[in-house]
Amino acid sequence: MNKKWWKEAVVYQVYPRSFMDSDGNGLGDINGITSKLDYLKELGIDVIWVCPMYKSPNDDNGYDISDYQAILEDFGTMEDFDRLLEEVHTRGMKLIIDLVINHTSDEHPWFVESRSSRHNPKRDWYVWRDEPLNWESIFGGPAWEYDEKTGQYYLHVFSKKQPDLNWENPEVRNELFKMINWWVAKGIDGFRVDAISHIKKEYSNVPDLDGHLFVPSWEKMMNVDGIQPLLQELYDETFSKHDIMTVGEANGVSADEIHDWVSPENGKFNMIFQFEDIGLWNTEVRNGVNVPELKTVLSKWQEKVNGNGWNALFIENHDRPRIVSTWGNDQSYWRESATALGCMYFFMQGTPFIYQGQEIGMTNAPFEELDHFDDVHTHNLYFHKKESGMEHDAIMTVLRATSRDHSRTPMQWNSSNHAGFSDVLPWMGVNPNYEWLNVEAQENDPHSVLSFYKQMIWLRKNMDVFVYGDYQLVDMNHDSVFAYTRENEDDKVLVVTNLAQHAVLCAVDPEDSTLLLANHQSIDPAQLLPYEARVYKIPKDTNLNG
Ligand code: GLC
Repeated sequence: MNKKWWKEAVVYQVYPRSFMDSDGNGLGDINGITSKLDYLKELGIDVIWVCPMYKSPNDDNGYDISDYQAILEDFGTMEDFDRLLEEVHTRGMKLIIDLVINHTSDEHPWFVESRSSRHNPKRDWYVWRDEPLNWESIFGGPAWEYDEKTGQYYLHVFSKKQPDLNWENPEVRNELFKMINWWVAKGIDGFRVDAISHIKKEYSNVPDLDGHLFVPSWEKMMNVDGIQPLLQELYDETFSKHDIMTVGEANGVSADEIHDWVSPENGKFNMIFQFEDIGLWNTEVRNGVNVPELKTVLSKWQEKVNGNGWNALFIENHDRPRIVSTWGNDQSYWRESATALGCMYFFMQGTPFIYQGQEIGMTNAPFEELDHFDDVHTHNLYFHKKESGMEHDAIMTVLRATSRDHSRTPMQWNSSNHAGFSDVLPWMGVNPNYEWLNVEAQENDPHSVLSFYKQMIWLRKNMDVFVYGDYQLVDMNHDSVFAYTRENEDDKVLVVTNLAQHAVLCAVDPEDSTLLLANHQSIDPAQLLPYEARVYKIPKDTNLNG
């Protein structure tokens, strides 16, 4: 298999607002990130992905950009960014940034011009119609917003302060390509490409027999036919010219389509984030993950992508609640489930991404009232569910389980005031469990979640088989056990995790094996304890499926 630096890398995702506040205003910032680079280096990180740090009115915390070539003042200056980049490089790491090009902020000068009159030369840079289509926005409510001044509707797939750019217009594309190449010339090492499966639309109504004003309209605005030539041009004009890492956020793309997205011959990205496993957790309540389905979905991606491209591996990001509180158990099996879920995904074939705080097992926050939430999506959801007649208490139950804000509470560095994130009250409440759940408390504990992550990273760096080896699912004949092997010419390893909060009788004691990693201190060959995880090196000729 073709070796590449970005295949061997471990990536760490930073949400700048919540990572580290260096100047005492309660908001994380760029110098805060720089101050924590030694921590990331020590953890074993190769690539840091920084979520949007561009100028923005922050309707969607920076995913609504008003200037692609300026830094948000709250976060610092372009000099601060340049220093961050330099310090990352000095330590032998790389930096990738978020590229949000499906939409801009409504405060971007392009949109300000576009909405100023029907005849403005930039009118066609966005999508305007006399009559709205019956599409629902991904953030809830109608996707078309009426603009009084010019008497037309504009499209926003996300919030109404995030108007969609018109990718059919070559001027728009050229302007975006110039901006992308400008960042690469600055020395950044790649991009996480936001919402990129939405750039092509099919402008017609969704058939709706019940006559609703707006209805879910994924087939009109996500991975629509005709998207590939647009992606091809993006690739040809930008990514293909540089040795950078690209990961596309590709909602709606199936494992059968990866040839066009990530293959060495035809792919437009090095890898993509897939969305298929999202539905495996019943988001209305907390009840763990459907392990048989999870095995099916992840194994399908492993098999289809093997030899045809590359996977992006992740279980957390800034858009999902914390994994230990959703797929795991953040009470009685907090440490065990945080490590078992980590072990399950981390050793698959692909580039692993770790979201800030995941490496210490950060949990969902005890949000109670609506005003504890910040996220525009969460608030929209409340508003539209209320409008559709749902009771307040029922909506709050959904929000408490599903809100994206759970992953956006400040990073928990130590047990001092505000978790060591800031000297003053942070922009969003710190999770009260910071008193015991924090980096400092775990750093010198060999059995901590953090130490487990360090060991996983060390193993992946020191055994090629964890990077390039073939994946094979092992059927342990048990619903809650997720086991697989990785194998290359020289080595074979076995990863076994029990993703349930009960022990299972299951013989795992391969002959002549060496235990490389475990999250329990004593090993019983006849059973797996709740959320037990083990990694073995096993002889090449061991046949576990036979
Ligand atoms: C992506 C981002 C998300 C954002 C949305 C709109 O899904 O991950 O945070 O709200 O795009 O830009």
